[in-house]
Amino acid sequence: MDEVRLQSPRVVLCAGIHCRRRGSGRIYHQLKRWVPQEAFMLLRAPCLRVCGQAPVLVLYPRGDWYGRMTQAGVQELLQGGSPDHCLIYRMGAASEKSPSNPLPKTPSDLH
Ligand code: FES
Repeated sequence: MDEVRLQSPRVVLCAGIHCRRRGSGRIYHQLKRWVPQEAFMLLRAPCLRVCGQAPVLVLYPRGDWYGRMTQAGVQELLQGGSPDHCLIYRMGAASEKSPSNPLPKTPSDLH
C-alpha cells in the first residue's frame, strides 16, 4: 500500500454480529451509495470489541470512534459535521480528559 493511500480518509465499519444486528449493513450501503470511492476507503472489520456501542464506525485519520451510529449520524458525518451525540472515543483526547471531556482513555475502557 502506498503512502498516499495510507493518508486518505478511511471509514472502518464494524461488521461483527452485534453491529450487523443493529444496522451496520444499512450504514455500509448508505456509505457506498452516497460517497464516491475516491473520497475515502470504506473498510469492514470484524468485531471492534465495543459491542455495547453497536453499530460502531471509526473515522481515520481523525481517530474518532462513533457508537450507536444511526443513518442520520452518518449523513451528518458525510456533510462534514461531527455527530457528537454518537462520539464514544477520540484518539489523542485522553490527555485532554476533564469533566467537560468525559471520553475514555482507550477504546477498551468502553466495555
Ligand atoms: S460486533 Fe461491533 S463492536 Fe463487537
